[in-house]
Amino acid sequence: MKLFIDTANVAEIREAWDMGMICGVTTNPSLIAREGADLEERMREILSIVTDGPINGEAIGTSAEELTAGARKLARIDSRIVVKVPMTQEGLKAIRTLKAEGIKTNATLVFSAAQGLLAARAGASYISPFLGRLDDIGQPSEALLEAFADIWSMYDLETEIIAASIRSPEHVVSAARLGIHIATVPYKILLAMTEHPLTDAGIKRFEADWQDALKKRGQST
Ligand code: E4P
Repeated sequence: MKLFIDTANVAEIREAWDMGMICGVTTNPSLIAREGADLEERMREILSIVTDGPINGEAIGTSAEELTAGARKLARIDSRIVVKVPMTQEGLKAIRTLKAEGIKTNATLVFSAAQGLLAARAGASYISPFLGRLDDIGQPSEALLEAFADIWSMYDLETEIIAASIRSPEHVVSAARLGIHIATVPYKILLAMTEHPLTDAGIKRFEADWQDALKKRGQST
C-alpha cells in the first residue's frame, strides 16, 4: 500500500519525505487556507520537496467549466499534478473532459460506493473516500472500504482508491488489509504510526544493559 501525506505544511511534508514515509501529497482548500498559502505557489514548493509521485491540488468552482479551467491551470504547473475534483454531476463532466486532455484527476468527497463507481467510469485516476467524516456521522467507513475492495476485485478498473480523512493508524491498517491502493495520512497520524510503548521500553532496556556491562568492565559510555 502506498502512503501519501495529507497536508499543505511544507515542514511536515519535508519530514515525512525524509523519513521515507510518503510517495505523494494531497491538499485541499481548507489545508491551503490554514497555511495562508497561494495554491499554485504551494504546489511548486511541494513539487520541489517531494521529487517523485503525485501532488494533489483541488480545483475551485462548482460548474464543469470552472472546475475544468481551474484544473487546466494547476495541471500546467507540472505533469505530476493531480487535480482534485468534487464528486458532483458537474465534477463528473469535468473529470471526463480532463481525462480526454490527459489531465489526472482525483474525485474527492466520495462517501458511497455508487459515487466511487461513477467517478471511476468518468475517468478519474483516483477516488478519495473520506473515512473519518463518515465515522463522524455514525456510518462505518470500513463497510465502504469493503464495498470498494469487493467491486475493484471483480473488474479491471484503472482508478486507484485513496483512503482519505484518516483519523488513526487503525484506519490505515484497515485500508491496507482490504487491499486499498493508497492512504493519505495527516502528519500527526504518520508520527503515531511510528510509535509503540514496547519500542520505547526496549530502547531504555538496551541502553541500561549496555551501560551496566560497561560499568562491569570498568569503562564508561
Ligand atoms: C483528502 O484528500 C482530504 O484532504 C482529507 O483527507 C480530508 O480530511 P478531513 O476529513 O480530516 O478534513
